[in-house]
Order: sequence, then C-alpha cells, then structure tokens
Amino acid sequence: MSPARLQNIQACVFDAYGTLFDVNAAAGHCSAELGDKWQPLAELWRGRQLQYTWLRSLMADYVDFWQITGDALDFAMASLGIEDAALRQRLMDLYLQLDAYPEVPDVLAALKRAGMKTAVLSNGSPGMLRSAVENAGIARHLDAVISVDPLRVYKPSVVVYAEVERQLGVAPASVSFQSSNSWDAHGASAFGFKVVWVNRFGQAVERLPGRPDVMLETLDDLPAVVGAG
Ligand code: LAC
Repeated sequence: MSPARLQNIQACVFDAYGTLFDVNAAAGHCSAELGDKWQPLAELWRGRQLQYTWLRSLMADYVDFWQITGDALDFAMASLGIEDAALRQRLMDLYLQLDAYPEVPDVLAALKRAGMKTAVLSNGSPGMLRSAVENAGIARHLDAVISVDPLRVYKPSVVVYAEVERQLGVAPASVSFQSSNSWDAHGASAFGFKVVWVNRFGQAVERLPGRPDVMLETLDDLPAVVGAG
C-alpha cells in the first residue's frame, strides 16, 4: 500500500537525534568494552537525556544539550555501576559522530532536487549539530540547521516549533516535520505542522495532543509522501 500524500508542502524539517542520526550508535560502538550493558546504557542515557530537557524547561534552568547529554551519561553509568573516565570520554566523542541512518543522504538529495526547502530542527547545541551533519556528509542538502539553543528552551515548547517559520519563511501548514520521537511528532502536530512520524522502533501511538498525519518505518518513502518523488 502506498502511503498517504501531503499536499502543498514547501519545506521538510527534520528532528535530528533518532530521526536522522542513530542515538544508540555511540554505546553500540563501545559494545566490546560494555558487554551486555551496552543496550541498557544506551536506553538509560537517552531516556535521562530527554527527561532532563523536559525537566529543565519546566524548572526554567536551561543548560545546553551537550551538558545535558553528559549529565545523562553520568547518571546512566552510575546506575549501571560503571566507573571509567576514558570510556565516558569515548562515548561523548562518539556522540559527535553518530551514524546517520542509511537512507538519509539519498532522501535529502531527492527533496532538494525537487525544489523543497530542507532543515534540521533540534535540541542539539549548534556545535553538536554541526559535527553530526558534517560527519554524515549531508550539510550540502540542508538549507538550515536550527538549534533550540538561542531560545533556551527544549521541544516540545511551541517557541521551538515557531522558529521554523521565522527562519525559513514557510507557514506551519506547508511544513512537513519528520520525527521518530513520538512525543515530538505529537508536539509538532499540535503546533500546526504536517507531521510524518518515523516509527523506527515500532512503538504504540502516544496518548498526547496532536495527531501525526503519516506513519513511516524509515524515511525512504518521504519524497513520495510530500510530492517530491
Ligand atoms: C532532537 C531530539 C529530540 O534532535 O532528538 O531534537
């Protein structure tokens, strides 16, 4: 069955971590050192990283995503009884070079060929995003890489989603926003974007405001969904 199509899309905007870049890749690359703890570490690390963004936004106590990523890693390592400063450093270094999912470069190139505006909208700090985008070789396919950092608040704040219109000049109804993070997909939909939920991990539908318009398993079919294929 071919997926639904979205009409009048002028810009495709992507979440970064989990959507373009594999957040489990850093711990995965250390699986030799971590043994059977690599997956619990990856899950705890990512889970706390996201919770800290929400909690700090509510507490009005912003620190950038690099600091949050380090704090979450420290919590995850302590929880699993891992004390290893060199391994911590290696995991943080790897987070700057996360693998992009395999379909990402071709999908972005296809969207650009069709005249679509493309951007990243992410919690990541500007330095983290620059590094990940350059490492994946996708900078030339992106018109903008938008970080929450100058806004000093994290997704799913509407202030963050509103930044897209300010920077790209495209109204929310003409933006297709892609995220594998279901809460981000709902937040973006509630804000007014058209949303493609990239359900890479086969998760159940969230009970949250908003309603993603299309669900895909990977980004492969996105050009067809937005009329660029
Ligand atoms: C981001 C997180 C939510 O890239 O994955 O914004």
